[in-house]
Amino acid sequence: MKKGKFYITTPIYYVNDVPHIGHAYTTIAADIIARWHRLLREDVFFLTGTDEHGQKVEEAAKAKGMKPQLFVNSVMRRFKEAWKMLNISNDFFIRTTSEKHKAVVQKIVKKMKKDIYRGVYEGQYCIPCESYWTKSQLIDGKCPECGRETGLIKEDSYFFKLSKYRKKLLELYKKNPQFIMPFNRKEEIISRVKEGLQDLSITRTTFRWGVPFPLNSKHICYVWIDALINYLSALNYPDKKFKCYWPADVHLIGKEILWFHAVIWPAMLMAAGLPLPKQIFAHGWMTINGEKMSKSKGNFIPPKDMVMKYGVDGLRYFLMRSIPFGQDGDFNEKALKQRYNTELADKLGNLVSRVVGLAEKFLKGKIPQGRIDDQLVDQLQFEDVKKHMAELELDKALALIFAFVDSCNLYIQEKRPWDIPWEIPPEPDSMEKVSNILYTLIDSLRVTAILLSPFMPETAEKIARQLGVKLGTLHECKFGLTKATKIKKGPVLFEKIKVKD
Ligand code: MSP
Repeated sequence: MKKGKFYITTPIYYVNDVPHIGHAYTTIAADIIARWHRLLREDVFFLTGTDEHGQKVEEAAKAKGMKPQLFVNSVMRRFKEAWKMLNISNDFFIRTTSEKHKAVVQKIVKKMKKDIYRGVYEGQYCIPCESYWTKSQLIDGKCPECGRETGLIKEDSYFFKLSKYRKKLLELYKKNPQFIMPFNRKEEIISRVKEGLQDLSITRTTFRWGVPFPLNSKHICYVWIDALINYLSALNYPDKKFKCYWPADVHLIGKEILWFHAVIWPAMLMAAGLPLPKQIFAHGWMTINGEKMSKSKGNFIPPKDMVMKYGVDGLRYFLMRSIPFGQDGDFNEKALKQRYNTELADKLGNLVSRVVGLAEKFLKGKIPQGRIDDQLVDQLQFEDVKKHMAELELDKALALIFAFVDSCNLYIQEKRPWDIPWEIPPEPDSMEKVSNILYTLIDSLRVTAILLSPFMPETAEKIARQLGVKLGTLHECKFGLTKATKIKKGPVLFEKIKVKD
């Protein structure tokens, strides 16, 4: 029986460029959270997709000499392929150029009508960030977000009365301390909102690549208004799915787009009279060898390059293990290689081959249901793993799972089943001892595989197959559930990689 619903989203990615490791980072994290909630037997809806309108995308299409729709179709496919390769289990992929989405944008804008008025926008605009800035917000005359040149625009525009929602937003943050997570990012937003909010220009007239504005067809919707509404259109607002899954439980995003999600989006929903999401979680920014990722610096990493070398699970593991989730962090291939070799190949991979090897050697692979040794299984900090997952401390949860892998390795070292006197036929006493040690290890590996399955789904399946057991949900994360089983040795889980200095 399902236990409640869980709706999680990633940002929808701009299709001006192909997917890179930064997009993969968010999408993998969201996938892990979605899979974890499926383990909790919740009815999960996991959404990702592409943001296909706006000036930046239109310019990228022009630069390729392509019609925008054909261009976005081709880049969108690259995102879908990347997510398939990375084993992303999204339930839907939303595209903002779909007719369904466009219709929902128009519906929601109409619902916000009482808070929309006409005027003239004059100010700075950063095309790469698709953001409006006032002169005083610029840093050294450049975009405060990306540091690039902004352009002055002056055009007839419709405005959303964002300023009206200042007090309501402050109340929201106060009443719901977990609305903006992690906590350190909340204070920054609160102090900016306290300073005062300016009404937001929500239409453009100087280009056409967008959703027609329903109140005046000479205008198109500002790309962020269009994009945020994807979280509703993907649920076929206002139909059954919307009723079932809205409000979102977590909008997972990168920290640079927190303002849009924690300020503009709730204000839009308030204006439209709709319930608000429960949480906006903004993770940190990932640099590449200490530098911001960019094509011009030549450090733009497509996820495929890493998957070819370290496998899908090698990459998924490293991204989640090496950066404290929520904080900024660095992607460094040397560190990836090291973790791959020491933690995946030497610790996890080796543990599985050892246990399977011993089971074959001593018991011909046939393990009867035995007695669990609490000395080992008490080492698993299951409640803490659950707590970390609930707080989205993904790195900490993964570290605890691997601490249990360490405990299993130590347990074998200490019990030394190979030293137990073993003649043929073995003494019943020796047989029982070895059998119980191996049963404890096999059952521990089964539980470990379940806990690892959101992080490394392929590896978890491979472990279960070798143990001759089925993966289950968190309900099956109890020790002693493995029945008599037949072990099937499989290929090494992680082949060691040579590390060059
Ligand atoms: N289209 C908007 C989002 C609209 S959501 C309604 C957008 N798209 S984006 O293509 O620029 O993607 C930004 C997101 O990609 C970030 O918020 C983050 O989730 C992810 N990342 C892109 N580069 C990243 C890093 N270098 N590090 C971490 N995350 C990164 O903004």
